[in-house]
Amino acid sequence: MAQTLRMRQIGLGLATFIVAITFILWSPRRREYQPYSPSISTPAPASSGPSFGPDYRGQSSPANINQVTNSTLGFSKIFVIGLPERTDKRDAMTLTSSLTGFNLEWVDGVKGEAVPDKAIPFGKNRDNLPNTYLGSWRSHMNAVRRQVLSRRCNRLLTDNVPACGRIVEEDLESALIMEDDMDWDVRLQSQLETVAKGTRALLGSGSTPNSPYGDGWDLLWIGHCGEIFPEQLPENEDEPLYPKFVIKDDKTVPPLDKITGLVDFKSHPEFTRWVHVTGAPICSFAYALTRRGAQKVLFDLSVDRLDANFDNALGTFCRNGGNKKEILRGYTQNA
Ligand SMILES: *[C@@H]1O[C@H](CO)[C@@H](O)[C@H](O)[C@H]1NC(C)=O
Repeated sequence: MAQTLRMRQIGLGLATFIVAITFILWSPRRREYQPYSPSISTPAPASSGPSFGPDYRGQSSPANINQVTNSTLGFSKIFVIGLPERTDKRDAMTLTSSLTGFNLEWVDGVKGEAVPDKAIPFGKNRDNLPNTYLGSWRSHMNAVRRQVLSRRCNRLLTDNVPACGRIVEEDLESALIMEDDMDWDVRLQSQLETVAKGTRALLGSGSTPNSPYGDGWDLLWIGHCGEIFPEQLPENEDEPLYPKFVIKDDKTVPPLDKITGLVDFKSHPEFTRWVHVTGAPICSFAYALTRRGAQKVLFDLSVDRLDANFDNALGTFCRNGGNKKEILRGYTQNA
């Protein structure tokens, strides 16, 4: 009896030891999340005049940040992807965007069934591609292509070639691309002011960049369903922590019991939003591309190959790893 008990004790001790060793050896390395700098608190609402909506003009300095409150939210154009027959979504998006104060243009989405085999990028077998995936990819590529195309038309114009029709006038430095089931906070413009402060800080832009969001970015991932910090990616395990722009006390961030995403929000102060180098976001609700970024996407996600779902492929393209020829310089707002 005593011997059995002794054996049990030894067994239990051994088991505890093994569990402890396993935990030490295999647990993910814990790195302290430092209070990152630079960080800002969101400004108090304007004392006079509207603090959101079509007549809100921003309250940031330098004043050129307030361009993000214009009718294209500081980008050259806003494209929304949607199937032409989904008039319900077009009505809803048109109404909500006009009440918030921005103008959008529609890009017709396509159904996967309409994509012929020959149009499928190298590396993909149609049998493994659900039509929803194929349709989403093609719809996004049509929006991206529209931005790249505008440049060509401009060149033709300077060469005195009267081509291209309406898009001759387009010179799209950047475009925001959205899906047609998007929703947003009515305080979108003031949110974008703080995002622009973040991207400018991370990019080291001076006070007069060409874009109000700063210069040198390819992609801004503004709307997603979850995003991690770049240091959480396996390939960055031994890298120093990435700098983050911390937006504190942001009243537009949901409280801790309501917020969803991929960050461990509970280990940070409530109502924090971050702007940081893109990690691995899920969902492509809303992202902006510069023309250079759009060219890279058109190459990497269509002409050259297609590796994954559109949103995963876009996220992967922002990462250092893989066999990518060039990296997409992406920044995310995260909360
Ligand atoms: C909004 O601001 C951006 C950035 O300055 C600019 O490119 C765009 O043309 C502006 N939109 C309108 C409608 O003026």
